[in-house]
Amino acid sequence: MRLIILRDYDSASRWAAGYIADRINGLTPAGDSVPEAGSSGKKPFVLGLPTGSSPLGVYRELIALRQAGKVSFARVITFNMDEYVGIDEDQPQSYHRFMWDNFLSHIDIDRKSVHILNGMAEDLVEECRAYEEAVTACGGIDLFFGGMGADGHIAFNEPGSSLRSRTRVKTLTMDTRIANARFFGGIPDRVPSMALTVGVGTVMDAREVLILVSGYSKARALRAAVEGGVNHMWTISCLQMHPRAIIVCDQAATDELKVGTVRYFRDIEGLREPMGS
Ligand code: GLP
Repeated sequence: MRLIILRDYDSASRWAAGYIADRINGLTPAGDSVPEAGSSGKKPFVLGLPTGSSPLGVYRELIALRQAGKVSFARVITFNMDEYVGIDEDQPQSYHRFMWDNFLSHIDIDRKSVHILNGMAEDLVEECRAYEEAVTACGGIDLFFGGMGADGHIAFNEPGSSLRSRTRVKTLTMDTRIANARFFGGIPDRVPSMALTVGVGTVMDAREVLILVSGYSKARALRAAVEGGVNHMWTISCLQMHPRAIIVCDQAATDELKVGTVRYFRDIEGLREPMGS
């Protein structure tokens, strides 16, 4: 696992956006296990995407890179991580709306290339099965970009989720509903109690995973992710088993890491004081 520690949220967002754009453009060396992808390759680039506050800076940066003509999403296929059950896609709190409002409407992506789980599907189990099938049909996910909950969840894989789980219906913890209540008038009971989410196994199948972590509220989870053992109570810790996983974080998120851990990762990434942007 790589851990990239930068000064603040904006620096981390810029770094992550630049990395994603480079991968889409086929500029970053992809490693032995990654087939040719991106606009310079033959096949489309398949990108996994999150919602939440963490990715907003990256979405802003990617939109700016698009506007500057430095990246195109014309050959990109996206799969979102999750969606609430029982929220219509036109409602402001839906992850569909979040994605179109904050990112997808502002880039040159083909609407048909966007995949977001339908939390209103009549048969939710079938919806999840078909989603996995669609990922496979696209040749798998090249890069899964994500955030992390304060309890270390990845997508909506709450503590205790199987580290081999696939896309499925998941009950949300009260902690997660409280964390997301800000989008529902501050009232946790209004946050749906269930969601559809890709599984930990679905994320692990991506050829590469990039997680952005920001702020002190994520510090305990970051410690579990980097210094703890692989453990289903912190599903983010699955990244330790991934051959190409990157966490990019700000300084605040490292508050619970050992000094030696921070020094080690800064040293190996060639990041010196003051931390680069
Ligand atoms: C939700 C999403 C996750 C996201 C997490 C953290 O639970 N399902 O994908 O990583 O929130 O959100 P934030 O970035 O707002 O802290």
